[in-house]
Amino acid sequence: MESDSDIKTTSRGFHCVLCNVNLPNMPSLDQHVKGRKHQTLSTVRASRKTQEERSVFVSGIKPDISQTDIAEYFQKFGSVTDVIMDKDKGVYAIVQFSDTKSIEATLSFVEHQMKGLKLRVKPREKKEFKFIPKKKSDSQNLQRVLDHLKPELCQLMSVNAQMQLVVERFQLGENEKKARGLLVQLLQEVFVEFFPDSQILPFGSSVNTFGIHSCDLDLFLDLENTKVFQARAKSTSEQAGEGMSDDGCSEDSILSDIDLSTASPAQVLDLVAAILKRCVPGVHKVHVVSSARLPVVKFHHRELNLQGDITINNRLAVRNTRFLQLCSGMEDRLRPLVYTIRYWAKQKQLAGNPSGAGSLLNNYALTLLIIFFLQNCEPPVLPTVDQLKDMACEEEECVIEGWNCTFPSQPISVPPSKNTQDLCTLLSGFFSFYASFDFASSVISVREGRVLPITDFFSQKKEEEAMQEEQPTTTSHHSPKLGPLNLLDPFELSHNVAGNLNERSQRCFQRECREAEKYCRSLQYQRKSTKGKSWGLVRLFTPHGDVPQTKAEQLTISIPFKSASLPEVLRNQLYMAGDGFHLLWFQKVCAAVEGVLKSVLRCHLAPSTDAAFGEDSAVHAAEEMESASASLNTTMNDSRDSVESQNEASPLGTAGVGTKRRLSSCSDASMSPQGKKPRMARRGKPDFPHWICLQKHVVWAGRRKVRRELIKDTDSRPEGSCMELESQVTAHITEKEPELKEPLEFKVQPQIVSGTESTRAVLKLEPTSDKTGVFHDFFHFLEAFLPKMVETLLKSEIGNV
Ligand code: UTP
Repeated sequence: MESDSDIKTTSRGFHCVLCNVNLPNMPSLDQHVKGRKHQTLSTVRASRKTQEERSVFVSGIKPDISQTDIAEYFQKFGSVTDVIMDKDKGVYAIVQFSDTKSIEATLSFVEHQMKGLKLRVKPREKKEFKFIPKKKSDSQNLQRVLDHLKPELCQLMSVNAQMQLVVERFQLGENEKKARGLLVQLLQEVFVEFFPDSQILPFGSSVNTFGIHSCDLDLFLDLENTKVFQARAKSTSEQAGEGMSDDGCSEDSILSDIDLSTASPAQVLDLVAAILKRCVPGVHKVHVVSSARLPVVKFHHRELNLQGDITINNRLAVRNTRFLQLCSGMEDRLRPLVYTIRYWAKQKQLAGNPSGAGSLLNNYALTLLIIFFLQNCEPPVLPTVDQLKDMACEEEECVIEGWNCTFPSQPISVPPSKNTQDLCTLLSGFFSFYASFDFASSVISVREGRVLPITDFFSQKKEEEAMQEEQPTTTSHHSPKLGPLNLLDPFELSHNVAGNLNERSQRCFQRECREAEKYCRSLQYQRKSTKGKSWGLVRLFTPHGDVPQTKAEQLTISIPFKSASLPEVLRNQLYMAGDGFHLLWFQKVCAAVEGVLKSVLRCHLAPSTDAAFGEDSAVHAAEEMESASASLNTTMNDSRDSVESQNEASPLGTAGVGTKRRLSSCSDASMSPQGKKPRMARRGKPDFPHWICLQKHVVWAGRRKVRRELIKDTDSRPEGSCMELESQVTAHITEKEPELKEPLEFKVQPQIVSGTESTRAVLKLEPTSDKTGVFHDFFHFLEAFLPKMVETLLKSEIGNV
């Protein structure tokens, strides 16, 4: 072993130089040398050495020379296997040959010339191979920061003090701000050369008072004045009959390549990228992302180790950054709350999408959620955006792209809040607020400081009219993209800033809020541990996965209210139902569940014990299902009949469809389909309607195979996407497979949850007779199958139009 130059003997055993690890004794050294890391690094080193010996370093090339040009030129000295070029600047290349003889031939050639360029060709420098461990990931870095912060936080006397320390530790330092300022200045100087009168304006975390070390630098390149400049220069030159004026916009200026009044954002951004690459020292890794909602040029600054983004159509972002600055200025408690909640969200993997894309909350959205909570405290900590608008004076009026962005420029114009709650209370208040928030059926408006019913957005026309009223200058603004979390931008009211979230990320956010709420009620949150244990924020910041998640072992199936996937017809019906839309939706879901159990899975349903829920509705649902499964293309019963029949069956609604009627308000935590609060029956059980179901076949087993055979690979419909097919699958199984020795009997109790949680229907399942022990298998199948089928059935109401 000693002969291996990678291994050194040390006073404590051995040290492997290649892998930079210490080994205490011979057996562990032996194991290490045979191990994957050492073997991989040895192989990589060997192949690098071969590459070095078979390649030459070429400089003196120009960016317009391609890899193919170089390969073609060097081919005459031997077979070229690879050409590696520096992508950013295109000034050097490494040419690799298949053997060492070609190297000799290349190096002995006196003058290499290509396309009029004199090339310098050198042997490769012999570099010592060094293992550089991968940079720590973001979450590892965060963990390291927390590890250092933990003991300090635990020493403090209150959660308030802990929150202040979090700000101190994470906020951008003065030097960092200065360095960013200098880079902005440099960029301004460069861009103004190419785009006369342009302005480069920072926005986002670098300047919104919530920035942390290493946060990115968001920039808006404002070309409005350049457009004016260009138009003026053009008309002057046309009048003079020349190319262009000579004040910085001559024919060979970069501006002459492009007409800003007609160029697409992608074209302009390509130009911006070219300028960054060639003219800004220290800038590298420049690339355009044109697929983003707002196309952007991304770059990295080497010396500052800073990620930067430049956009060109983002005036609203500069304005909403001013709004966040104003909020910080008028309320001292905002920054500690934002830093703490952002860090908590990062630790729990709820926010912060690396590279911008993803299904987590972005930091802007999270900050707006905090502001909204503060607007809804009693008394409010922050005013609504509409109230701020009224506090502004005439000179502060501001309209951008038709959106009213008026608010006072100075915090002094805003009266201080009467709310005196401390940070510790506000933080736990934030978690409670969102732990019991009905995200699915609400639209959060920071503008109005209140929740708007989602049904207001179902009627496109009504929503557009409202916007027109609010923003008379508005031209045609589309309605926001609805999803599991709907949070309107305070100014661009057609933009759901949380529109990227999926069901899962919304659920995780709410689940973590609930966990945090629970923790905040404990003494460990509120009081410093006398035994030196973790307390306050430290335990709140424990990363996801470190605390065992307790999963309630309850046999319930949840069917979320997914506004975005409802068909237009149903959306309109829900809109007409006003406050009672929850109930109407729940009735539809119940009818669909009944239909799936009865018609698709061929369960025998014993009549419901609750007449109020309505035999009629059950029969109607079954009819709907049967007609739908008979043929997908056959028009189902008119949905209006469906609503009417439900209204007749239900004691709630008497008004006909077509007039906006109010079903009973459904803001209670949970309700039966009749809209009643859960009432405890005499024997201590809730008096909900329920179905008793009988299943004689293992309709859940082998469905995938049967489905595949039925569709014979001609159609790749996923499970639960087609009722007719699923009914056929069941029919096939019931025909081919023997009956269960004893039929399975189980009870299904539906319930609606809304108001204090995201609106959803919850089905509680309970076996009443399971002699063959199959209930759990059936339940697990239903858990995935039932919500998908219900969604399909609700969607199929499109056929009613
Ligand atoms: P970020 O979500 O990146 O926030 O949006 P941030 O505060 O800069 O946090 P980091 O960068 O993740 O640390 C950056 C800015 O982009 C605008 C806002 O001005 C925000 O401050 N923005 C973002 C919008 O205008 N709309 C959006 O939907 C998202």
